[in-house]
Amino acid sequence: MNKDLLTISDFNREEILDLFEMSVDLKEKHQKGIEHLPLKGKTLGMIFNKHSTRTRISFEVGMFELGGHALFMTGDQLQLKRGETLRDSAQVLSRYLNGILIRTYDHDEVIALAEHATIPVINGLTDLNHPVQILSDIFTIKEKLGGIEGVKVAYVGDGNNVAYSWMMGASLMGMHLVIACPKSCQPNPSPKLSGNGNVEIIEDPFEAVKNADIIYTDVWISMGKEEDTENKKKLLLPYQINQKLVDAAKKDSMVMHCLPAHRELEITSEVLDGKHSIVFDQAENRLHVQKAILETLL
Ligand code: CP
Ligand code: NVA
Repeated sequence: MNKDLLTISDFNREEILDLFEMSVDLKEKHQKGIEHLPLKGKTLGMIFNKHSTRTRISFEVGMFELGGHALFMTGDQLQLKRGETLRDSAQVLSRYLNGILIRTYDHDEVIALAEHATIPVINGLTDLNHPVQILSDIFTIKEKLGGIEGVKVAYVGDGNNVAYSWMMGASLMGMHLVIACPKSCQPNPSPKLSGNGNVEIIEDPFEAVKNADIIYTDVWISMGKEEDTENKKKLLLPYQINQKLVDAAKKDSMVMHCLPAHRELEITSEVLDGKHSIVFDQAENRLHVQKAILETLL
């Protein structure tokens, strides 16, 4: 097992399946109120250079429930902001903490942090990818459908950090992922894929959702990518998840969104609040899967 979780490929297929088994157990313990404190006396430092609701709170609650402590920091308040190197910061933090969760812009910073830290570093989203989200989402699909092999996921919208991690996750776990987005919004760069899944990128959203088990979307404008917002909104309008698109998928398809959602942009309220939507179960599972990640790495 790798020390860090920076991209999905830091875990192999078997390690991910083990993580899911552990998540089932942790979810049951959480629901039954069974105390489970394997991280007693351990501290996770959480550095956030971007906003967050789910990631911050689920990791903080996760550490608490596992008997440990979470320390929230913004990059702005650290000496990093005043020029202390990442290398020195990583070494110092490694003397105090048992793990670091970081959400930031540049993925290379996270790689450098992990290289110089002697403790596990977990990527809580960068401009490039969002591995903890997609691991948790694949767990949710397994929980709902009983399996993941061959499941068809239609990712419709912007080819962003979430789409990038979806490509890696679907490929590794043997799923069929079809990304539908305008040419100029396709994932760039594209990840190196391993595993026996099937990943396609097309332009037609209706073609993508044909026979899809899962319809997935994310915001059209990601954090830090606010340039050209109005143009992008126009370009992506045909990619909105609305009832017409959901009706073109499998009859019992499920709709997912990593949240936060911008209602009536990438997804309509009718769909988000409708019977196909599993978005809040999806959000809940972040807690259980991330607890499994914490228990495994820390
Ligand atoms: N999905 C997700 O990571 O949400 P936050 O930005 O609220 O953490
Ligand atoms: N693609 C989005 C995901 C938010 C959880 C962003 O980076 O803002």
